[in-house]
Formats: sequence, C-alpha cells, structure tokens
Amino acid sequence: MSAETLAQTRVCVFDAYGTLFDVAAAARRWKDILGERTQPLTELWRRKQLEYTWLRTLMGRYEDFWHVTGAALDHALAALAIADPGLRARLMASYLELDAYSDARPLLARLKEAGRPTAILSNGSPSMLAAAVSAARLGRLLDAVLSVDPVGAYKPHPSVYGLACERFACKPAEVCFVSANAWDVSGAACFGFHAIHIDRTGQPPEGLPGRPAGTVTSLDQLPTLLAL
Ligand code: LAC
Repeated sequence: MSAETLAQTRVCVFDAYGTLFDVAAAARRWKDILGERTQPLTELWRRKQLEYTWLRTLMGRYEDFWHVTGAALDHALAALAIADPGLRARLMASYLELDAYSDARPLLARLKEAGRPTAILSNGSPSMLAAAVSAARLGRLLDAVLSVDPVGAYKPHPSVYGLACERFACKPAEVCFVSANAWDVSGAACFGFHAIHIDRTGQPPEGLPGRPAGTVTSLDQLPTLLAL
C-alpha cells in the first residue's frame, strides 16, 4: 500500500474501545480496591467481552454490547473470586467514561482542521458510545458515531463495516479505518478498507487474512501517512 493511495482516502473511521478509549481505565479507576487483581481483571474482562461478541454473532444470538460487557465482567469477577456487587456496578459505570488516549483528541482535531470527515465505528451500543464520546468531549470532532446495533452482529462481520460506506455514501476503498485490534484491522482490510493498525504495545503479527495498509505506534503518526 503506497502512502499515495492512503492519501486519497476520503473518510477516516476509527474503532472505539482500545483505539480511542482506553479500556484498561475502568478497572484502573478502582485499583485501590482491586489491588494486584487490577490487571488480570482488565485482561480477562476484555478477552471474554470480545469472545462473547464473536460467539454471539456466530450463534445468531445478538445482545447489545452493554449486555455482553456485563456478562463478561460477571465471568471475570467469578473467575478471580471477587464477590462485590457494589464494585460490579462501579466498574460498569466506569465503562461509560473511559479515558481517551492522549493522542486521540489532537488527531481528531487535526483531521477536522484538514476537512477530513471522521467517524467512530464500534461494537459499542449507541448509548455507551454517546456516553464515552461525551465524557471525553470528542463529540464536536466527529461527523458520525456508528454502532453495530442496527446490524445485530459484531465485528468483524462484513455487514458492520458496510455501515460506514452507507453513512458516507462511499466505496470501501475510500475509507481509511484505524483500529488497535489486529483482528478488526484484518476484518476491515478484507472488507476493502485501507486499514491502519495502531499497535501501541508491539504485538506479534496475527495469522489472519487481509493486509493492513500501514502500522503506527501512536495516532500522532497518522497525519503523515495521510499526507495532511
Ligand atoms: C469496538 C471494539 C472492537 O470498539 O473495541 O468496536
């Protein structure tokens, strides 16, 4: 993928959780209570949350991301022998106001300044996404916040990526899609997006189809790739 091709994309679409919003922030906020279980809880909660989205999509049993996030948290709390209903409620509430990564707002502001339309395309339910966008004060920097909810299936189902093309009346090849989730990058690339992997932690490559158009270690590097 040449930088020139990327520069010709018309719309910039972002994954939400893990890409713009730090999912580890929810448990981190309660680390005084969780102590050394903070990291294991973060990892298991996220892993189960994603597994449940894939499994529910395969089973044709969609429930929204708030339900899935709660079910994944219940599993993680049980696995770590944490029985504290008050803490469960606090962790779920924290998911509605996750910290945005420090490079998210400056990048969205830069894209806005350059006149490039931007959107979130996420597994999140419409109300979860509205809450997170509002808490991080990103609303004015986004042209659209798209949830999988109307499709009733989760990423990486191709119909989900189609939502961005419908919203912006564009072809897949006109979309630059950015995600920190390598499997999401793979799904987006298979759909035909120019998919950029934001790899903050140096993950080994995944053995999945779909070639990323590029990899960055910080969102700060995106304007150069897009020749802004
Ligand atoms: C999302 C998940 C994949 O925001 O992080 O869609």
